[in-house]
Amino acid sequence: MLSFSHVKTAVLFVAALVLAIVILGVRTPLVEGAGVSPSVVNSEERCAECHKDEVDGFLRSKMAHSMRLPANEPQGAVRTSDTNLRMFSNQDGNWQTLESHGHSETYRVEYVIGSGAHASGYIVSLANHLFQSPVAYYQRRKAYGLAPGYEPESDPDFTRPIKPGCLFCHAGTFTAVAGTINQYASPPFSHLAISCSQCHGPEGEHLASPDSSNIVNPATLEPASRDSICEQCHLKGVARVLNPGKQFTDFVPG
Ligand code: HEC
Ligand code: HEC
Ligand code: HEC
Ligand code: HEC
Repeated sequence: MLSFSHVKTAVLFVAALVLAIVILGVRTPLVEGAGVSPSVVNSEERCAECHKDEVDGFLRSKMAHSMRLPANEPQGAVRTSDTNLRMFSNQDGNWQTLESHGHSETYRVEYVIGSGAHASGYIVSLANHLFQSPVAYYQRRKAYGLAPGYEPESDPDFTRPIKPGCLFCHAGTFTAVAGTINQYASPPFSHLAISCSQCHGPEGEHLASPDSSNIVNPATLEPASRDSICEQCHLKGVARVLNPGKQFTDFVPG
């Protein structure tokens, strides 16, 4: 039987819990509501204390979702003359199975590259080495196809390393292991998607004592310096043709 003191304890406990939720609730990461995983919480939250409009605005852009954790990626299949690729998800995660020459291997999707507005690429991790999946999901066709560069291959595999040069334009901050091609710290990313510092520079001093003198404001830069911020990742002129992103957006397989 439940004694009075038990009930009282229970009431106190519930009250404490409610209080805790209220207190913690206030501190709930702002980015959570924007669909960004709380596991990649970052300085954006800090910036939002004083620049809520800019943060909200940025979180709505594609760039804020340039890399993401897999959600419910669509089911599908891709067939080449020598291989069969099957994509599926269950409560344990998102998976891609490669069948080739009577051999079958299933890979877990760890990260998705690209907001998905045009296409999503997939990244798997083998002992902290990141590799690109040979398939991409194309929004326009609402279907999987081979990722750019894999089209001529009859036997595509999960062997293409994800090098820092690939992540440079898409990821926020990551730690590559020196002297390796595609080994990263565990976890590789301390900030998954593009964030404030990629256009506004180092944030430490500004966070310590906020002032317009210790943060980059692209609006007040010379045009050439301003453009160079975007050109870190958005190549222009002839180079633009080589922009891997362009290949993804323009690519229509088959
Ligand atoms: C505690 C409040 C506070 C926080 C937190 C804060 N800022 Fe600021 N920020 C300011 C103030 C104050 C200014 C100066 C505004 C002015 O002069 O009109 C400013 C100015 C700026 C400017 C414009 C600079 C200019 O030339 O006017 C940028 C860009 C900026 N902050 C970015 C950031 C980023 C990115 C973060 C997060 C890493 C951040 N701020 C965090 C208070 C803050
Ligand atoms: C760190 C690399 C990087 C920098 C710096 C960068 N971009 Fe981007 N940008 C990207 C990537 C990657 C995408 C594709 C995002 C996606 O859809 O996955 C993108 C997408 C965009 C888009 C598409 C639409 C949208 O809502 O995001 C626009 C517009 C854009 N960038 C403008 C700019 C401008 C202007 C600058 C400079 C002020 C800039 N970018 C700086 C990497 C960058
Ligand atoms: C892709 C580049 C890019 C990223 C990423 C970015 N910004 Fe900006 N930001 C700009 C540019 C360009 C301007 C100046 C032009 C303008 O006001 O639109 C600017 C202006 C600002 C300003 C000054 C507005 C004013 O009144 O002059 C603030 C504050 C700011 N950004 C905060 C942030 C915060 C906080 C983040 C991260 C959540 C962020 N920005 C991410 C490019 C970026
Ligand atoms: C030089 C910078 C740069 C590099 C390096 C780069 N990308 Fe991109 N990527 C972009 C930009 C910019 C866009 C957006 C293109 C646009 O909207 O015109 C993009 C778009 C994409 C998209 C489509 C996102 C969407 O839905 O709009 C995918 C997927 C993608 N890239 C994957 C990759 C992969 C995988 C690599 C490495 C093997 C890579 N990118 C390397 C800059 C880059």
